[in-house]
Amino acid sequence: MLAAMAVTLMAGCRRVPPPTPLSELNAQQMHGHAVFQTQCARCHNDRQDAPLNGPPLIGIYKKQYLHSGAPANDERVTDTIQHGHGLMPAMGNTIDQQDLDDLLRYLHTL
Ligand code: HEC
Repeated sequence: MLAAMAVTLMAGCRRVPPPTPLSELNAQQMHGHAVFQTQCARCHNDRQDAPLNGPPLIGIYKKQYLHSGAPANDERVTDTIQHGHGLMPAMGNTIDQQDLDDLLRYLHTL
């Protein structure tokens, strides 16, 4: 019980476990990684805690909230990708459903 609480508390802080190594990703997650490289990497770091044009996405689902304060869940992340957010362009027309699903799987490993 205490251990579970400690994990929950730690997940709310900036100190989060490191991303799963690329060598341990399954095929779907690896495809999501490729989608990330072509669609997101010019604006977001995935494995480094440093901003580019947008906030770093490392540990995105391990923190409770996104950069904007919105809850870190698939619904919100999908909405951000499809419709854009602030300075981030809408990408709903450039990413199909399969790529989007795989991309989310990859983001869950960060
Ligand atoms: C042209 C640059 C650009 C590209 C390409 C881009 N983003 Fe962003 N993204 C941004 C910027 C800038 C922000 C901060 C927006 C704001 O809060 O005003 C952002 C914010 C976000 C957020 C946080 C939203 C929130 O509510 O805080 C997520 C999640 C995100 N991007 C995911 C992605 C993913 C996944 C991709 C690839 C499909 C992607 N972005 C591609 C620039 C980009």
